[in-house]
Amino acid sequence: MYILGVSVLLFLTIFIFKFLYSNFWVPWRIQIHFQKQGITGPRYRPIIGNATDMRRMYMEAQAKTIPLTHDIVCRVLPYIHQWSMEYGKMFVYWFGPKPRLAISDPVMIKEVLANTGGPFRKVGFTPVSKLLFGEGLVGLEDEQWVVHRRIANQAFTIDRVKGWLPEITLSVRNVLDKWEEMKGGVEEFEVDVHKQLRLLTADVISRTAFGSNFEEGKRIFNLQEQQMNHFLQAVSSVYIPGYRFLPTKMNRERDRLEKETRASIKALVESEKNRKERENSTNLLSLLLSSYKNQNGEIETLGVDEVVNECKTFYFAGMETTANLLTWALLLLAEHQEWQDRAREEIVNVCGQKTPPTADNLTELKLVGMIVNETLRLYPPAIMMMRRTMKRLTLGSIDIPEGTQLQLSVVAIHHDTELWGEDAHNFNPMRFSESRKHLASFLPFGLGPRICVGQHLALIEAKVALAMIIQRFTFTISPTYTHAPMMFVSLNPQFGVQLLVRSLWN
Ligand code: HEM
Repeated sequence: MYILGVSVLLFLTIFIFKFLYSNFWVPWRIQIHFQKQGITGPRYRPIIGNATDMRRMYMEAQAKTIPLTHDIVCRVLPYIHQWSMEYGKMFVYWFGPKPRLAISDPVMIKEVLANTGGPFRKVGFTPVSKLLFGEGLVGLEDEQWVVHRRIANQAFTIDRVKGWLPEITLSVRNVLDKWEEMKGGVEEFEVDVHKQLRLLTADVISRTAFGSNFEEGKRIFNLQEQQMNHFLQAVSSVYIPGYRFLPTKMNRERDRLEKETRASIKALVESEKNRKERENSTNLLSLLLSSYKNQNGEIETLGVDEVVNECKTFYFAGMETTANLLTWALLLLAEHQEWQDRAREEIVNVCGQKTPPTADNLTELKLVGMIVNETLRLYPPAIMMMRRTMKRLTLGSIDIPEGTQLQLSVVAIHHDTELWGEDAHNFNPMRFSESRKHLASFLPFGLGPRICVGQHLALIEAKVALAMIIQRFTFTISPTYTHAPMMFVSLNPQFGVQLLVRSLWN
């Protein structure tokens, strides 16, 4: 009995000591460490850090709409906006007891991203967010990442993506035919393009990923969409170990969705593996199932579970982001009729009145390319990236302790007037006719080894879809539209984007 009592006491003492050490002593020391280097930030609150302040600022920002201005940082990252005004462009804040250093200096960001995998790593996922894409490329590290990335790189080469043009144009045509049906006899009709473009990009990724099984692919993606809502709740709250095992309604629903998604993708993978004509198949699933030789001549293949994880990843990493890019591009062109006209002129010159762009046309669509880039600058779908330091190191002149999370704010860089000039918040595609000022001042797809593997697909899909929409319709902003960009996995319009559309093909 005595020994038990002493053991319990010892255990409690160690627990309390560890708790005080990591929740009080370490944060206090780190705060002083940064203060000595002139880096301050909001005061650390024991255990929760600044998470409640962040949540409050998000809620307040989302409760108000903003006028149609593209100066959006205050709404999409309100705490970055607020704290950078109070403490300077670089500041430290706290996510639970973990320090986060907010960085918006392009040179530093470039150094971090170029060295990801070495001293800088991606921030680990919580078990719940891991369910969504943490088990695929986005969340892998080391040798596993190298193998998956090599295989994914070969599946997403520019030539392969160009080979998917028939699927992409078919998806776009189907969606645009539905717009014609929606008009119901009137000349001008309202379309929530955000809703429509999400259907479009889901259709494209289903067709490119699953080939002839694309309808089943769409059903699976529907399940994943429901899972996304759970994900959002998980990332916006501080992670509590073990909470996911409690039999709450949400936890049960999440587990059900996960099981159903995995089983359905697995069935598709097995059916693809057994298909006789697979040698000629170029859908993503088939490419992921193929074997490749690495530089040492060794054969590399992904197992069924690994392929399932990558399919889930591509949906989340690729569908929302591309739909949002297209949505903001249409809003900007609806606001700037002169650019809509110029783009239409270019498209008709290059492709004609009714023919979709061919692979050869893509490089000729220069203005469309500049519009896509300027949209990605003003409304980058991935508004920030996160890394953590694996050891104490110096970045620029800053001495950063091991285990510090680095918040790399893409949207803040893209809107920085010191980098982009006084008109940084204005839509001006012409700035992309000149060579870029700095590699890291424009990084919608990230940089370095972890740069977006799907960027060719995203850019080609965006160009083709924009070209086909502009060829066929004119559009203006509907009076029902309210400007409310917000962060929801990627940069979304909170209430959709309603445009008034007229067909040019009658
Ligand atoms: C406009 C559309 C897109 C944007 C803005 C975008 C943005 C990004 C960014 C910024 C990263 C780097 C994240 C980091 O370094 O932490 C990334 C990675 C990734 N993206 Fe995209 N993406 C887009 C479309 C796509 C598409 C269409 C796919 C695939 C179908 C895709 C798949 C991925 C994957 C798998 C990664 C992880 C790569 C790795 O870690 O090796 N993305 N994306």
